Parts: sequence; C-alpha cells; structure tokens
Amino acid sequence: ESGKDSQDKKKNHIKALLVAATDCEPQYLIRLLQTKLRIGLAEQTLLAALGQAAVYTEEHSTPPPHIQSPLDEAAKIVKQVYSVLPVYDKIVPALLSDGVWNLPKTCSFTPGVPVGPMLAKPTKGVSEIVAKFQDMEFTCEYKYDGERAQIHYLENGSVEIYSRNSERNTGKFPDVVAVISRLKRPSASSFILDCELVAYDREKKKILPFQILSTRARKNVVMSDIKVNVCIYAFDMLYLNDQPLIQKELKVRREHLYSSFEEEPGFFQFATAITSNDLEEIQKFLDAAVDASCEGLIIKTMNKDATYEPSRRSHNWLKLKKDYMESIGDSLDLVPIGAFHGRGKRTGVYGAFLLACYNINNEEFQSICKIGTGFSEQVLEERSASLRTQVIPKPKSYYRFGDTIKPDVWFEPKEVWEVKAADLTISPVHRAAIGEVDPDKGISLRFPRLVRVRDDKSPEQASSSEQVAEMYNAQKHNHQNNQDDNDYDD
Ligand SMILES: *[C@@H]1O[C@H](CO)[C@@H](O)[C@H](O)[C@H]1NC(C)=O
Repeated sequence: ESGKDSQDKKKNHIKALLVAATDCEPQYLIRLLQTKLRIGLAEQTLLAALGQAAVYTEEHSTPPPHIQSPLDEAAKIVKQVYSVLPVYDKIVPALLSDGVWNLPKTCSFTPGVPVGPMLAKPTKGVSEIVAKFQDMEFTCEYKYDGERAQIHYLENGSVEIYSRNSERNTGKFPDVVAVISRLKRPSASSFILDCELVAYDREKKKILPFQILSTRARKNVVMSDIKVNVCIYAFDMLYLNDQPLIQKELKVRREHLYSSFEEEPGFFQFATAITSNDLEEIQKFLDAAVDASCEGLIIKTMNKDATYEPSRRSHNWLKLKKDYMESIGDSLDLVPIGAFHGRGKRTGVYGAFLLACYNINNEEFQSICKIGTGFSEQVLEERSASLRTQVIPKPKSYYRFGDTIKPDVWFEPKEVWEVKAADLTISPVHRAAIGEVDPDKGISLRFPRLVRVRDDKSPEQASSSEQVAEMYNAQKHNHQNNQDDNDYDD
C-alpha cells in the first residue's frame, strides 16, 4: 500500500490477519510486526515458504518422479526463479495458476525485468589472483569508473536502462538509448546487456572521471541539452533472442556479446580485456588500465565456475583497484644490494635483485624487497651486465637484512632504481624502517616493479627509512578511509 490513506489500509490488513489467526499465530504476527521474531525471517525464508505452501496447496499435482523431497525442491525452485525474476506479482499468480513444478517455465528471466548485477570481490594483488585462479582460464577487463547499467532491448524495439539497484534510469540516458538502437546488429532482436556508462570526451578521445558523469541531470533529459557525453563499455550479455544466457559460461556469453554489436569509439566499445595468467603481463595491463583513467581491473573466470550470478558478490569475479597501488603514493628510489641467479629463460642473467632503502641516522642500507618483475629482457641484461662489475665477496657491514635472505651475490651500493609497488606490509624478513613502525620488524613492498634507473641519484639519496615508514602509515590511513567508502563501491 502506498499513497493516500495507506496507513489506514495497512492497519486494516493487519486487523484482518489477526482476526483470521488461530492458536499461536497472533503471537508470531505481533512479534513479526515488532521485528522481534528472531528466526532470521528474511527474503530467503519467505521464498522457501512460498514454495512449501505451493506443495501443500497443490493437492492434485504430483511432483515429477525424480524428485525425492518435494518441500525442499519446491523451495529451491522458487528461490531460483526469484533470482532471475524478482517480482512477487508475477511469481504468485504463476504459482496459483500452473503450480510450482511448472514455475521455471511460466516465470523466467525476461527483458523488461532487471536482475541485480553480479559483483566482484576485492583482492589485494596480482599474485593473489594468479593463486586463486590457478589452473583456470581467466580474463582481465578494465574496471571503468562510471555507472553500472543493465540495458534491456525488447522485441518491439523499446529500450530500458536500469541502475545497479534495478531502478529505471531510461529517462537519464536518451543518448544511450539511441546508441544502442543504432549499433546493435540486425541479428539481435532482444537482449540484456551488462555494461558501464562512462563520461567521455569525444574530441580528446578520453575517459572522464566519475565526478563529471554525476553532473548529468537525473530525469527527463532532452538530447539537445546533453553536455556530458557517455560511452557504453559493454562486458556481458545475459540474454539474447529469447534465450537466457546466465547459465552459460562467460566465454560463450562474450562471443554472443561480440557478435551482437558494432563498436564505435566514444559511443559503444567492448571493455578492454586480455586473457593471460602471466603475472607480469597482468601487472602491465593493470598499469595500462590506470593510465586509461580506469579504476583497475576485474578478473573473471572464463569456463569453469563462470556462469552469471545475479545480485551476488561472487568469488569468480575479483576486482583489483588502483587504490591499492596509489595508496603508497609515490614510487620509491631503492638500491640493489644483492642478486639471485636467473633460471630457465633467465639463465645467464640475474633473475631477481635484493633492494634496500637508506637509513640516514645509522648510515645503513636496509633491505626492503626482492624484485623480479618489470624488466624487459633488454633491461634485465643491461642491469645484470652493469651490476656484475659491482660484485663484492660479502655483504657490507652496513647492510641490514634478515638471516633467511641469502642472495647469490652482493653488490657495492652503486645504482638507484625507481620502483612502484602494490602496497607496503610489515615483514619479519626485511629490515626497512625497523624500529619505526614495529620494534622488531621491518617493512617490505608487495609486488614491486622496476620503473627506471635513476642515473641522477646517488645511493645515499635513495628513499629513506623515514619516508618508507611515512608511506606505510599513510597507506594504513588510506585503507581505513577506503573501508568506510566500501558501501558505495562498484
Ligand atoms: C514494447 O513492449 C513493452 C512490454 O510489452 C511495452 O511496455 C512497451 O510500451 C512497448 N513499446 C513499444 C514502442 O511498443
């Protein structure tokens, strides 16, 4: 009930319920209304109850022979149907007219009724992703910083746009409606598209920040008044020509997506994606995404566990945001003090280096991380050749490092390298800024990458332990802020 006199109408419904109740039922009703019914009554309970009620009511219907436990099975069916058609006004009449066993046929996923979008879980770094998706094929897509949209195209040619919260947003984006109708291929007669709407500067061919998109009017927008243009970045297809695709793997859904639209730069583009499980390649792709004004990457399974899960924050989609990179602020300038021999493809050169920051007070170099990524073959050869001339028989007395770190060679402090990293963590092994943040532990860099060699700096001008400690503290502060923001994320 809503609108005029709705309070009275609600009261009358409640009275009628109480009058009809018997035995202990009024007690439950009252406690329910007081929200004191501590049995976790939520949507899922209601859906299960609907399914069970249908089984009890359908005296003449017999469940299909393979069904062992009709009550459980009916509950499951209603839940499943609700996840793709979250409309009681459709489900209940269908239950009453054709019964619960036919419900998947009478009530199905259909253009015109939005489902909640599938969401991604945050992850800390590329190495975590590779570990989680070990042995699976996965894809990395740019994570665009705009507004999530589900675009429905109906058989009769009408287009509807729904927000992340399934609110109808069509009136806000008449330009998007026009682009969709123009750039869909004739073969696509009905579909549901999952995408991000991103503010876009078509002259400079550049993605604009979310803040600019949010300056657009919200309702009844007239085409000629539009000042902020939008590019549709499409990444999923949930339905095509009378066929739901959500039970299909991403690989298949993506093929349908690619074959159903024409790309036009600045108007409609497929989300930039690569399929790789190479750490370095993904790291580079992440940098490229950030350079292209994206928030980071979304990583998705392609074949295994790769269906579309409406309204769920799934383990099969992971997001890697640049915040995790930016939180360390600047890059660091560090000194290679040791190295490990390369193996396999890297035989004959160094495979990884031990880096250190400089402690000004104690005049010592403190180890901060091992680095093995960010090198092209050529750079690795150059660095190896250059440092080979700096090898010393044993570490300097003013090198600080954990007992467990045993490089194959040690170097004179000579070069300074600019390094970027995903974040800083407390380390029992490394000695950077020891005593500043933790009495016995140092700080280390997670996922460091070489940016370039700083010929203009001497080793004593490398990043100081103090700076490292400051960065660590700033990051902790940032992470807390990000946590607070998390509800609005995506
Ligand atoms: C197309 O069909 C939908 C749903 O049946 C209806 O709401 C809409 O008004 C129709 N649009 C046109 C242009 O006929």
